[in-house]
Amino acid sequence: MCGIIGYTGSETAQEVITDALTTLEYRGYDSAGLALSGSKSRSIDIYKCAGRVSDLKSMLEKKMKPADREATCGVGHTRWATHGGVTDTNAHPHRVGTVTLVHNGIIENYRELTDEFRLKGKLKSETDTEVVAGVLDSFYAESEDPKKAIAETVKELKGTFALVVMFANYPDVVFAVRNVSPIVATQSPQGSMLASDLTALTRFTDRYFVLPEYTIAELHRSALYLWTLNGKPVEPEWLTMDWEKNSADKGGYPFYMEKEIDEQPEGIRKTVEPRLKDGIPDFSCDELDESILTDTEEITVAACGTAMHTGLVFQNLARKILHTEVNVCLASEYMYGEPVVGEKTLLIAVSQSGETIDTLEAVKYAKKRGARTLGIINVRGSSIARECESVLFTNAGPEIAVASTKAYTTQLSLFYLLIARIAYLKGIWDEDKVRDFTAHLCRTPDAVDEVLNIRKDIHIIARNILEASDLFMIGRGLDYAALQEGSLKLKEVSYIHSEAYASGELKHGPIALITEETPVVALATQESLLKKGLSNVREVRSRGASVVLFVKNAMSEGLEQEFNIVRLPDLPDEFMVFPAACALQLLAYYVSSDKGFDVDKPRNLAKVVTVE
Ligand code: G6P
Repeated sequence: MCGIIGYTGSETAQEVITDALTTLEYRGYDSAGLALSGSKSRSIDIYKCAGRVSDLKSMLEKKMKPADREATCGVGHTRWATHGGVTDTNAHPHRVGTVTLVHNGIIENYRELTDEFRLKGKLKSETDTEVVAGVLDSFYAESEDPKKAIAETVKELKGTFALVVMFANYPDVVFAVRNVSPIVATQSPQGSMLASDLTALTRFTDRYFVLPEYTIAELHRSALYLWTLNGKPVEPEWLTMDWEKNSADKGGYPFYMEKEIDEQPEGIRKTVEPRLKDGIPDFSCDELDESILTDTEEITVAACGTAMHTGLVFQNLARKILHTEVNVCLASEYMYGEPVVGEKTLLIAVSQSGETIDTLEAVKYAKKRGARTLGIINVRGSSIARECESVLFTNAGPEIAVASTKAYTTQLSLFYLLIARIAYLKGIWDEDKVRDFTAHLCRTPDAVDEVLNIRKDIHIIARNILEASDLFMIGRGLDYAALQEGSLKLKEVSYIHSEAYASGELKHGPIALITEETPVVALATQESLLKKGLSNVREVRSRGASVVLFVKNAMSEGLEQEFNIVRLPDLPDEFMVFPAACALQLLAYYVSSDKGFDVDKPRNLAKVVTVE
């Protein structure tokens, strides 16, 4: 949460920073700001406002000092408010005395620090961040040494932080330091730059490194240095981005969400194909030590939001195919449930960003108690990827829309490969059975493509729920698992209160809420559950609900006379979650875009959740 930038180089800082902030806006969009050091005036000027980066840009057009138009150094921030309301004053950067800074994270002891460093009269905002600026300014006053001041300050801080700092006497230099909250950095002929995540760096280079925790970065125009808190030099560990340049562009689509829904067939193919050898899943490109799969007895999936929903599908398949029980935990609740964890536990952490703090904490908790840990992650070099013993990376490319789509289906595809590999390793399936399963998996991108080709029908069906304020999504078995994701999608982008319910459970309470004003979205893709599922759908229809039914083509005969239906392409039941997911994503997308909402940046949300 919160996107931060630091830049010093040969380009116009204001342009570099506002472009990068636009890219990072998915991390928070309550307010935006930047600080620029004018190459002529040598002063550091702050521009900030509540609202979007576009509001900041309008402000810059009207108010920016001429010298700042040529500034080549600066820091920037896009905020997801934690301490203090969404106001101009609380927007970052913050300045106290000689120090100007931006921050991502939460400083837990900001009240104590305010008293200890006698900052009360000096602070203008309600933020924890400004307190850090105050502490840093106090230490700087003692030594006039930026690195020393930073080192002294971070020793005082409790909590998580990524700080990007400018000092008045060093107008061309940017400093940074972090604990938990991410910072990646690069150095290129255009200058030195750092940011909360990779998407902001693609403009310059595909080389980057992750700033190690409690290490000071010192960025100059043509050089970049890392220091321990004791002043010893550190060599960066350079990585290469595997994302194509411009892959974070909108590519002519009105919204990233639609683009990313469309990218799913490719994402699934790119995730699955490199991991198949003659039809058998093979994780040698991931350097996976397979004892993690064979020597563990109890599997737990810990994740948040959409990523957690992939665990529900895995749980369902693991029971049926592997005869193994899988726990699926909301990462934010994991440790508070005091789970029984030991050396025979396999904790699978699923995360698009690799930065969700609750998921990271779950991994640390399990590791400490001896568990083996496996990440299913989209971003290389991310915190969870570095924390896990082994990682399988999804090849989804950058996901920008706050509502996750292609991450979900690519994460699912890795779970399907894992199922087949474990079944193979444990002798549950012979090679033919494994090949048969992976052949179906390889057909899922085409099935998703077929759904994309009927997007117009889904758009028309979406009109049935446009005016709803409450809605139920019902299904059984795997359909229920898929609907939990479908329902979250609709809720987050359309603001319709939607609840996914197991069809059989409706009669135990929620059916009391069904009226003519409560549409029901039903999913029926599992042949053995069709009859019971349809009875439940008829029960809600007899109570006035209008029903939209997504049904597997082969099971759809005659149903169009009873319901508004969308036919989904035929795959074996256990693979139907792929086309179903895509159809439900499109449903949510069209409801949101038809209502005129900012589909990619839903109210109050942020893409990367780095606070607990
Ligand atoms: C946020 C995003 C969701 C995402 C969840 C977990 O809530 O808005 O789209 O599913 O975080 O994120 P992760 O990066 O760990 O998959």
